[in-house]
Amino acid sequence: MRNSGRLARARAIVKEIEEKCETPIAKLQLVADDMMAEMHAGLADEGGSKLKMLITYVNNLPTGYEKGLFYALDLGGTNFRVIRVQLGGKEQGVVKQEAEEVSIPPHLMVGSSHELFDFIAMRVAEFIASESEEFKLPEGRQRELGFTFSFPVRQISLASGTLIKWTKGFSVEETVGEDVVAELNRAIERQGLDLHVTALVNDTVGTLAGGRYYDKDVHTSVILGTGTNAAYVERADAIPKWHGLLPKSGEMVINMEWGNFESSHLPLTEYDLSLDAESLNPGEQVFEKLISGMYLGEILRRVLLKLAKEASLFGDIVPPKLSIPFILRTPHMSSMHHDTSSDLRAVASKLKDILEITNTSLKTRKMVVELCDIIMKRSARLSAVAMVGILKKQGRDSKEKQRTVIAVDGGLFEHYALFRECLEGSLVEILGTEVASSVIITHANDGSGIGAALIAASNSQYWKGLFY
Ligand code: GLC
Repeated sequence: MRNSGRLARARAIVKEIEEKCETPIAKLQLVADDMMAEMHAGLADEGGSKLKMLITYVNNLPTGYEKGLFYALDLGGTNFRVIRVQLGGKEQGVVKQEAEEVSIPPHLMVGSSHELFDFIAMRVAEFIASESEEFKLPEGRQRELGFTFSFPVRQISLASGTLIKWTKGFSVEETVGEDVVAELNRAIERQGLDLHVTALVNDTVGTLAGGRYYDKDVHTSVILGTGTNAAYVERADAIPKWHGLLPKSGEMVINMEWGNFESSHLPLTEYDLSLDAESLNPGEQVFEKLISGMYLGEILRRVLLKLAKEASLFGDIVPPKLSIPFILRTPHMSSMHHDTSSDLRAVASKLKDILEITNTSLKTRKMVVELCDIIMKRSARLSAVAMVGILKKQGRDSKEKQRTVIAVDGGLFEHYALFRECLEGSLVEILGTEVASSVIITHANDGSGIGAALIAASNSQYWKGLFY
């Protein structure tokens, strides 16, 4: 193909994806309405919607009075962490917090349940073994741990729940349908540890609790990281599928599992359809696959591959690395997107280092940046509108001033500056300046870990024994 022909063909492909990814306000409003309708349906019946709207058994969020030494374990992405938190009550707050992070060997993400939980318990044992004397608990007191397990779980109490399905590249068949707390407790016993799991929470729920600890106006939390999801505080009497006693607080935290949201108004492209079809969980987590950090780089790779094959964008031969799924990660995409040099040096070097593509023209590199922008914008705007869906459901989208804080965590939000800007700008655009001025987005850094420890603290057997 001649150069001008190649470029024209490439332009046409880019234009097509740009049009398919468009999210004008009118379309976004329809998505927000669908989100709200699905929330109602998911709360009405078990299985009433693709949105699971899971009951979390968290009906009391931290107050600030929590006191003592607690642990948290956070499993949900490519890393897992063990955390120790010393809480000092109203006066002192978090006195001390230490964490250790380990990356999960990829073979354990698709291996056996036993191996995965043994690996985790072993790391916890190492963490505790290296503790200094100051953390020794008094005789007769067991260590208590909040387990942040960031996958959909059907809970029957605060400290138990069965795994509904894996997401985000995990696939350990035997764990599905099993109580993950029992699995963890068994692995802890095998390590001979004196440790007890007192709360099982999703990362969104941990983030909500962590956010509320610092700010009483936090009602919603959102994770924008490897995966994406949200939790919020619902009125217990507005949950028809809840048949238990009404909690004293009158409230219940709901884990929406919004990654599984579907709507006919979602802007899907051929790239999304093929990504989904070839994924570990076809037909599932459709919303997550448009938005989250695990997938954005992969969508970009798929578009670049088409450009290489059909418009010879990178020369006559399709660069072999470009055919490897998930080779291009969202952090790579982000660093190309943030390249401000006049000759797009960072783009050139990422293309070379990751995909072994050399000698690109400036025009080609500009096209890559343009694609990053299209893919990122769709993700940020859909994230914003999903938040608006929750605000609408809570009646917090009106002009009556009511301070609402959304606690957000996750690498995509934290590290992809343009994404965050676009998300915040889109919220203003959808809500209007006046309403948006009372909606505050905060970065709840490491909210999920400390949040799980806080929920473990509020439900501590020890404190219950002392005071009730
Ligand atoms: C996935 C999980 C969900 C989690 C989210 C963010 O969507 O299913 O439970 O909250 O990722 O980590």
